[in-house]
Amino acid sequence: MKTIDELLAEGVKGKRVFVRADLNVPLAEGTITDDGRIRAVLPTIAKLAESGARVVVASHLGRPKGAPDPAFSLAPAAARLGELLGAEVAFATDTVGSSAKETVGALTDGRVAVIENLRFNAGETSKDDAERGAFAEQLAELADLYVGDGFGAVHRKHASVFDLPGRLPHAAGYLIATEVGVLKKLTDEVKRPYVVVLGGAKVSDKLAVIDELLGKADRLLIGGGMAYTFLYAKGYEVGISLLQKDQVDVVKEYMARAEANGVELVLPVDILASAEFPDLKTKAPADFTVVDADGIPADKEGLDIGPKTRELYASKIADAETVFWNGPLGVFEHPDYAGGTRAIAQALVDSDAFTVVGGGDSAAAVRTLGFDENAFGHISTGGGASLEYLEGKTLPGLAALEG
Ligand code: 3PG
Repeated sequence: MKTIDELLAEGVKGKRVFVRADLNVPLAEGTITDDGRIRAVLPTIAKLAESGARVVVASHLGRPKGAPDPAFSLAPAAARLGELLGAEVAFATDTVGSSAKETVGALTDGRVAVIENLRFNAGETSKDDAERGAFAEQLAELADLYVGDGFGAVHRKHASVFDLPGRLPHAAGYLIATEVGVLKKLTDEVKRPYVVVLGGAKVSDKLAVIDELLGKADRLLIGGGMAYTFLYAKGYEVGISLLQKDQVDVVKEYMARAEANGVELVLPVDILASAEFPDLKTKAPADFTVVDADGIPADKEGLDIGPKTRELYASKIADAETVFWNGPLGVFEHPDYAGGTRAIAQALVDSDAFTVVGGGDSAAAVRTLGFDENAFGHISTGGGASLEYLEGKTLPGLAALEG
């Protein structure tokens, strides 16, 4: 994979460089609540600008339906990028239309522009190769060179991620290089004990990675909504907790395989349970009780791991050499149910292991709970992307950069 430094050495002055970033940041009423992904791509954009390139930054945001939708405009992300760069950033109100052509045409050396959300064009995400290819052709007209640095989107076979690099001389940006380097330490070069903490709502999203990790990790600690399917598979009643009954047989097979492979699969031993889901807007105090994992009352749902589980999981992390964590352990958006997620983050901070936090939600949780990002080995900008890498899949956005 060609690096951006090689591209810079060949000279980028006066060249239009298309940077495929992942500026898919969380927004609340038009305000960015976590700008981590914008900060993560800054080194690439700043270096290109400093080197005299005319930088065209492009990204998706959210999942609009292939047509312009103001709720998903990249304008707030472009404004934030300008603040962080300390330079004016032009903004095109379309992707490949007259605004994009004019904005890019008006760029001078060392200046930066952002074009509107790529998913406002149906060609970006199309499953039809010709439709995606046609959009990639239009994007290619905006640039002379391509730098792939949207790590969070490399698992998507989308026009700007997969088809466009084939149409322009291309290289990987600094963020992709860093992320791939870290993922190698979790796969080819892992130091043991290797502990993986998996949370998040749905077990179905994590099946493939669990399947793979049963042959790789030494310990798997399970939390979040997905834990209840495991507890149910163990024969416990889970009340009205999140449960994916259709996955129970798969989960049973995983538990048996973990035992056969000598992988410690650790489940919560106590739970914060409530009859009501908390109000995430008002954050009004929640009414919950701590119950044993095999004693969730029929009218209650589990919303966080309990104090004994937090201690147990911290002890399982303490002697690790490598830790990967993906997914919140409870409904961390409410202060009464943030304790489990906070305890895991703290255990990672306290450990001497190489620690990696993967996934938009866990990365945002770490930052919103007030942890110092530098206390972790690495905070990945890609949730789905890092999981698919760990599953051993070929990621279209990385494969395209290899070519
Ligand atoms: C992410 O948030 O994981 C990436 O930006 C990819 O977004 P997507 O899941 O909508 O493709």
